[in-house]
Amino acid sequence: MARKTVKRWEDHRITGIGRREARTAFYRDSQKRICLNGEWKFKYVEAPEFSPEGFEQSGICEEWDIIDVPSVWQLRGYDKMHYTDVLYPFPVNPPYVPDENPTGIYKKTVVLEEQWLQKDTILKFHGVDSAFDVWVNGTHVGFSKVSRLPSEFEITDFVKCGENDITVRVYKWSDGTYLEDQDMWWLSGIYRDVELINEEKNAILDVQVNSTLDDDYRDGIFTARIAMKQAGTSFKWKLSYKGEVVLEEKLTSETKEACIEAKLPEVYKWTAETPNLYDFTVESATQEVTVRCGFRRIEIKDKNFRVNNQVILLNGVNHHDYNPKEGRVVTRELMEADIRLMKQYNINAVRCSHYPANEYFYDLCDEYGLYVIDEADLECHGFEWVENYTWITDDETWKAAYVDRSVRMVKRDRNHPSIIMWSMGNESAFGCNFRSAAEAIRKLDDTRLVHYEGDFEAEVTDVYSTMYTRLKGLKEIAEYQVKGDKPHVMCEYGHAMGNGPGGLKAYQDLYRKYKRLQGGFLWEWYDHGIYTEEEGQKYYKYGGNYGDFPTNGNFCIDGILMPDRTPSPGMEEYKQIIAPVEIAAVEGSMTKIQLTNYYDFLNLETVVLDWKLQAENQIVQEGVVENLFVAPHEKKTITLPITEFEVQANTDYYLTLTVCQKADTRYALAGHEIKKVQIPLQIRKDEFAVRKAADKLQVSKSQDVLTVKNSCITAKFSTVFGKLLSFEANGKEYLSEGPRMNVYRATIDNDMYKKEDWMNKYFIQKPVEETESIHWQEEADKVTVQIKTFFSCYNQSWGFECDYTYEIYSCGQMKVELQGKAVQRGKLEPPFLPRIGITMKANKALQETMWYGMGPGESYIDSKAASVMGIYESTVDQMMTDYVFPQENGHREQVKWFRIGDATDGLLCKMENKLGLNLANYTDESLEKAQHPFEIEKAEHVIIHLDYLHSGLGSNSCGEEQLEENKVKLQDFAMAFTVSAVKCGTEIEEARKQYID
Ligand code: GAL
Ligand code: MG
Repeated sequence: MARKTVKRWEDHRITGIGRREARTAFYRDSQKRICLNGEWKFKYVEAPEFSPEGFEQSGICEEWDIIDVPSVWQLRGYDKMHYTDVLYPFPVNPPYVPDENPTGIYKKTVVLEEQWLQKDTILKFHGVDSAFDVWVNGTHVGFSKVSRLPSEFEITDFVKCGENDITVRVYKWSDGTYLEDQDMWWLSGIYRDVELINEEKNAILDVQVNSTLDDDYRDGIFTARIAMKQAGTSFKWKLSYKGEVVLEEKLTSETKEACIEAKLPEVYKWTAETPNLYDFTVESATQEVTVRCGFRRIEIKDKNFRVNNQVILLNGVNHHDYNPKEGRVVTRELMEADIRLMKQYNINAVRCSHYPANEYFYDLCDEYGLYVIDEADLECHGFEWVENYTWITDDETWKAAYVDRSVRMVKRDRNHPSIIMWSMGNESAFGCNFRSAAEAIRKLDDTRLVHYEGDFEAEVTDVYSTMYTRLKGLKEIAEYQVKGDKPHVMCEYGHAMGNGPGGLKAYQDLYRKYKRLQGGFLWEWYDHGIYTEEEGQKYYKYGGNYGDFPTNGNFCIDGILMPDRTPSPGMEEYKQIIAPVEIAAVEGSMTKIQLTNYYDFLNLETVVLDWKLQAENQIVQEGVVENLFVAPHEKKTITLPITEFEVQANTDYYLTLTVCQKADTRYALAGHEIKKVQIPLQIRKDEFAVRKAADKLQVSKSQDVLTVKNSCITAKFSTVFGKLLSFEANGKEYLSEGPRMNVYRATIDNDMYKKEDWMNKYFIQKPVEETESIHWQEEADKVTVQIKTFFSCYNQSWGFECDYTYEIYSCGQMKVELQGKAVQRGKLEPPFLPRIGITMKANKALQETMWYGMGPGESYIDSKAASVMGIYESTVDQMMTDYVFPQENGHREQVKWFRIGDATDGLLCKMENKLGLNLANYTDESLEKAQHPFEIEKAEHVIIHLDYLHSGLGSNSCGEEQLEENKVKLQDFAMAFTVSAVKCGTEIEEARKQYID
């Protein structure tokens, strides 16, 4: 369907016009530069054809708008915001794009002085989305595409002394768009820096270094290729380490290229754990440039990829450019904050999904130490959905476009030691164009590995890469049952959408166990919410919130870092799971523990071990163990100097161990916590007291209410509804509705494939509890009320026979025991339930919380590595995790007691056996309904959930489900707890008391 008139931005055979060859981004360059960021004149038109007559000439733009560069115009009031994961928001008709093609014309006047004009002028765009033409003083100087790579134009012949007019016309859609279908917001404009470079006539144009190791991995082998603008340029080069010159030489090259080779005995090697960098500086009479290099060798040996002969494990994360207010415009500060946070969270690898990042990002990775998969700006995922996935990938006419994206990336980034793999793109099927890209990459740089997940057979890649592989499939890969014997990486897993991911440990266990598996990259770093202030509300928008259609809604809210940069509970979990040190109890010993060093290069002498012997919240003994000489990948048992101590009654004992950084690093201070483990100790001295009797309890019954009462306590039951109506102590109402059975949670994103059945087939959000019988019995000091109910949901044959026993003591305590027996009188039943537990409604004034259980953050059965047992204080609101898309949150596992109180009094609830706890100022229904946090309707009460069991989170929004053992099946259960009123401040003491029943 070739068209007669081909528009430049619809010609996929053109990869650029007048653009210079891609080259390295020098770390330092003495040449003068003018930064062209800042205000530009701006004209937005519906299609390029509507450009005003003579727009490329100067003096035409007085009336135009002003826009700041870098920015994306959708966040400056032009065009519209649109989010899709896979879909192209136009027909799949490559290379053509819609006639309606939002276009931004940018103009800037630059004043150049005579002195500047003595040298050459280079105009460099670091990133423009998606294609653009450039004019200088009215003359067309070039055209470029590939949104996430720089484009340089030599404009020496077009500039003049004084004012110069630069015009850039940016097209939202181009043939390039077919290759830029990444899962993200559709954003356009000049969104990275723009600059002018005052280039020497004999400039050093490019430097390519290769710093590897000899076969003993001891000496450094250094080669460099220097490209110059003119032949016969004399220069001096030097290699220095921390400011000290280790090698230097003077050279004059006859041609435009010079090659250097040198050997460096016993170099400081680069790894992500030891990011030792050397400076390679080239100095000519007019210019000095530096690139940094790290000596390290990447290779595949004995079926594993190795760095410096060590098999490494990647504990990575996928990173997009993102800024909640600016879309894909990121600052240096933001990039550095990201890298620091990654390092603080034990992450050792980052995949630039799915396009090359800003140049500076790689400088930071080199410096801080992160292994990088650099990925070409290439994804044509939408073709999968029209069931012709290889359409352009296997079409030779697109070859140049595919190859260009890899080649320009390699040429720009190949000096960075942090980059260990080149990825040819993402989700674009496989075909001839990837074969060509792989070949082109290897020709330019064969010192790194080639990656591309879409090469499903690992035909041309060096590693076999998969995404979201379920545990069963991963085990098959691990055991070399599939796809040959190339090493495996999971380029994406652990989809961090909403509450989750859970179940990460199962993956890490496999990675650590099997030789073939070399780790993975969590999906993903950020929640891509767009900051919004509207009608007095502050919140984050996601797909659909701008009326954009079709959209994948909150599928872009899938990061471990919330838009406001708060690490999510999932991030805390990941940190612990991938921690480079593991601690385990040694059976039968209280003082011995085993340390495992999962670093690939560092000895554990870089960390210290803080230990605390704790009696719940009190520290009994503590100490620090230094000088932990444990070699990489080794284990060691150490003995803690714990001495005898007196055991307190009714108290639990724990050994809380934290591994901390010994010295300051670039990203964290000495003392920074790397790993935390708690070992419960088998120490317990029980003492029992007898409850003090108060005045006798009186029982009275009206038509429908049973009241049990004395001067300390009033408990009321509905004899019609078979439930507690009120629990009062000392004249204050604490509970206004008693335990009611519950199997539902406000569904989380990871429940998305269960939700429909849960809510529209099993109606778990529609519980009914029918009263079968109520009996009561008066004894000397207590009244026992027994209520039997049947619990089920609309039109279900499964349910529970519930047996509630309330023991009301004259001293003011009320013990509740619930036994549930699962019944099924038909066949249909949910494969599993979100939870089995009860809810209660408490007085709204009781906002101050304290609990003894896992904390401080939320925890779930398959995501609790970051939590330890302790006594924590908070408030009902603060116990909530504010997910961008509201859903179940704030659960705490293994709670032994909790107290909710006002300034003076509280309700203490003590469990017989540990239960799961949620405290919230809203119901599950309002949480389910809300689309944004501010829409969550507040409840009239504090809603208490106590769970016998609460299902895990899994990662099923894109990936593995909860493990079977973390799914709550229909089953018999029993739970018991005692409520009483306490003065705030006495709850810990009260909670420790144990009574003879
Ligand atoms: C993958 C894809 C990512 C993202 C993720 C889901 O298939 O590579 O870009 O879309 O799924 O969040
Ligand atoms: Mg995709």
